[in-house]
Amino acid sequence: MELYDGPAPSTPEELKRRLSGKRALICLLTDPITADVLDAGSDLEVVANIAVGYDNIDVAHAKGRGIVVTNTPDVLTEAVAELTWGLILAAARRIGEGERLVRRGEWKGWALDFMLGMELKGKQLGVVGRGRIGQAVAARAPAFGMHAVFAARQGRAPAADELSFDELLVSSDVISLHVPQNASTHHLFNRRTFARMKRSALLVNTARGPIVDEEALGWALGERLIAGAALDVYEREPQLHASLLNLENIVLTPHLGSATRDTRTAMADLAVRNVLAVLAGGGAITPV
Ligand code: DGY
Repeated sequence: MELYDGPAPSTPEELKRRLSGKRALICLLTDPITADVLDAGSDLEVVANIAVGYDNIDVAHAKGRGIVVTNTPDVLTEAVAELTWGLILAAARRIGEGERLVRRGEWKGWALDFMLGMELKGKQLGVVGRGRIGQAVAARAPAFGMHAVFAARQGRAPAADELSFDELLVSSDVISLHVPQNASTHHLFNRRTFARMKRSALLVNTARGPIVDEEALGWALGERLIAGAALDVYEREPQLHASLLNLENIVLTPHLGSATRDTRTAMADLAVRNVLAVLAGGGAITPV
């Protein structure tokens, strides 16, 4: 067994060198597991990602090679849903903006019309993505008096609590993203979609950065086409589009969705159990 505990994510070269002779790889979402990397592991039987998303892995190539790929669903659902609500509240009530102002020593005191935000009660939460996390986020909406609707899934008749994507865009007060990153969700939120949203609406993304076109988001926030946003994930982590950094109407957190002690321990544990199950000749617990 080899443990990589370097300060930065491992490079493809490092991964390739270490994979020689190994039957299993436990990796992070910051590790690019490309076809090249997989081919360097000629004995590889299983790749266990410590994340629910697996866009860092060339799954099709792994499958072609007969390598099992696993992820860590379920165990992080509550943690990501909790952070999502933290961001919804922070964006709606301008918490980051207010905190920065206080720290700068610029607060002049209470005033009737000072830093007014959006009340959540009675508003519509539009959830894009009806997986475990999207459902967990929606389930918490009644606690804040919000009404949750989901974006209808492609190719299926909308359920009673679903709207077409465009209907959801134009009618939601808060839109929260919970779809995986793939070709069909790349830049799902772009200049055109921002222009369709309510000018008072907020966008929250705790899924994957490339679902939102950051340059377009900077434009929409700057032009006040939407009222605010909160991002936990970015197109090119840990970099983010320069236009976002100077905006007050955006909350920015550093990919903390699953970052609780309980959840990260459970994620690592599940990855190890997946590897042991595959190497013992059984099926993986959570194959993708
Ligand atoms: C995941 O597991 O995909 C999350 O983004 C990790 O925080």
